[in-house]
Amino acid sequence: MKILVIHGPNLNLLGRRETTIYGAVSLGEINQRITTLATELGMDAETFQSNSEGDIVDAIHGKSFDLLIINPAAYTHTSVAIRDAIAAVGRPAIEVHISNIHKREEFRQHSFIAGVATGQICGLGVEGYLLAVRAARNILQG
Ligand code: DQA
Repeated sequence: MKILVIHGPNLNLLGRRETTIYGAVSLGEINQRITTLATELGMDAETFQSNSEGDIVDAIHGKSFDLLIINPAAYTHTSVAIRDAIAAVGRPAIEVHISNIHKREEFRQHSFIAGVATGQICGLGVEGYLLAVRAARNILQG
């Protein structure tokens, strides 16, 4: 069982970026927690971050995985291309947001990704990624 975890634009700055909203934990630390938990649960995890929409689409097409965990960041609210890539590969996807996008600015309250995701986790901080890893194992085990 392999999960692919994709982090979208500006998430490389986690730990330094708007820490009152996104917290003080770096992306490297988040990835370490994800891979440690995945291993504990008997899964392999690959993590990938890009600031480029096309690179994210290419990763969804090209990387091997059974389930995708994705924080599309700002592309959540703009990207039909990432939505279509998830639909095209036909594998389960969990959408994660650190902040609660539904109680922020109006433009953040619509997700192009939600309609093709198995589920969405938001507003629970970095813990949301770890909840998604646990959900991934349940989904993949049927
Ligand atoms: C985010 C929420 C998005 O609106 C924002 O553009 C991000 C991060 C989150 O994790 O809360 O970059 O996806």
